[in-house]
Amino acid sequence: MTLNIGMVGTGWFAKVHADLLAGMADVKLQAVCGTSREKGEEMARPYAAEGYGDPIEMLDTHTLDAVYICVPPGAHGAIERTLIRRGIPFFVEKPLGVSTEIPASLLQDIQAAGLLTSVGYHFRYQENVKRLKEALQGDTIGMVVGQWMGSMPEAPWWRDQERSGGQFTEQTTHIVDLLRYLAGEVTEVYAMFGNRVMHEKKDGVSVADVGTVSLKLASGIVANISNTCVLPGEASRVGLSFYNDRGLLDWNPQRLLTVRDGESTEYASTGNPYVSESEAFLHAVRTGDRSGILSDYADAYKTLKVTCAAFESARKEAPVKL
Ligand SMILES: NC(=O)c1ccc[n+]([C@@H]2O[C@H](COP(=O)([O-])OP(=O)(O)OC[C@H]3O[C@@H](n4cnc5c(N)ncnc54)[C@H](O)[C@@H]3O)[C@@H](O)[C@H]2O)c1
Repeated sequence: MTLNIGMVGTGWFAKVHADLLAGMADVKLQAVCGTSREKGEEMARPYAAEGYGDPIEMLDTHTLDAVYICVPPGAHGAIERTLIRRGIPFFVEKPLGVSTEIPASLLQDIQAAGLLTSVGYHFRYQENVKRLKEALQGDTIGMVVGQWMGSMPEAPWWRDQERSGGQFTEQTTHIVDLLRYLAGEVTEVYAMFGNRVMHEKKDGVSVADVGTVSLKLASGIVANISNTCVLPGEASRVGLSFYNDRGLLDWNPQRLLTVRDGESTEYASTGNPYVSESEAFLHAVRTGDRSGILSDYADAYKTLKVTCAAFESARKEAPVKL
């Protein structure tokens, strides 16, 4: 059976997903919806799909088995609500929103409808993250330190707090999500954010450009996750490190380094986690078996709660309990 897919969003990541879908057997990108019909049609053309500027028209015209949502964080809400009402499963890119309010109400409706969802926390699908999760099984984790140190993406919405939620919610969310996935739930955060450089370099910057967040986990683990977007394009450091009494486990998107029990081993990253996450979602759409989905809406909502609590903590200049 061929799955008919719709796409909402016509930007960089919508195209990444559309290209991957185009390479999969028994999957057809049927329709693309942008902020205008022109944008929808332009993106749809290479996939021999149809373009729309209105999601309702797209859904009225096509019988879609699932929809991918790849829009900026501030644009979530109405699209999901329409899909929930029609009972159409969706894959949505992270983060779920810029604050918890809209996603909290969407989550209630998703749970009431029992709707199949998947969220783009692709690192969970990486072979090295599986290896890391297995390696941590017998360990008592001491502490965890992570970071997303990079440059400011060019999309104008990204630098606008109202539309992106800020770097910790928009980007560093991947590292917070991995922390939860590998070490358990967060119970308290204390964040400090600052504006050092970018507001003087670019117009309309309302997001912090440096930040550090201390986190307490239910297990007693303490963690720190820091981020910046002041770096020039060629420099970056993204990763998460575990410090245990058997040694250290240091992950970044390119490799996993384990230094423990007197041995140091490096594992290069293999495979494409974006393909794996889509395959798991589409398998669930096809068969009803959701067991391969490693991040659904309910789980991703917990990650959003942590990053939004960090924003609140920085604003209040006080720790926030979850
Ligand atoms: N998982 C990952 O590794 C990863 C990587 C990049 C981006 N993303 C996520 O994907 C999302 C989109 O990012 P991007 O880089 O593609 O941004 P982008 O700016 O390139 O594209 C966003 C697109 O959404 C469209 N859009 C905005 N509101 C819309 C609406 N209501 N209906 C239809 N289209 C709408 C815009 O016109 C634009 O085409 C973000 O949430 C981002 O965090 C995830």
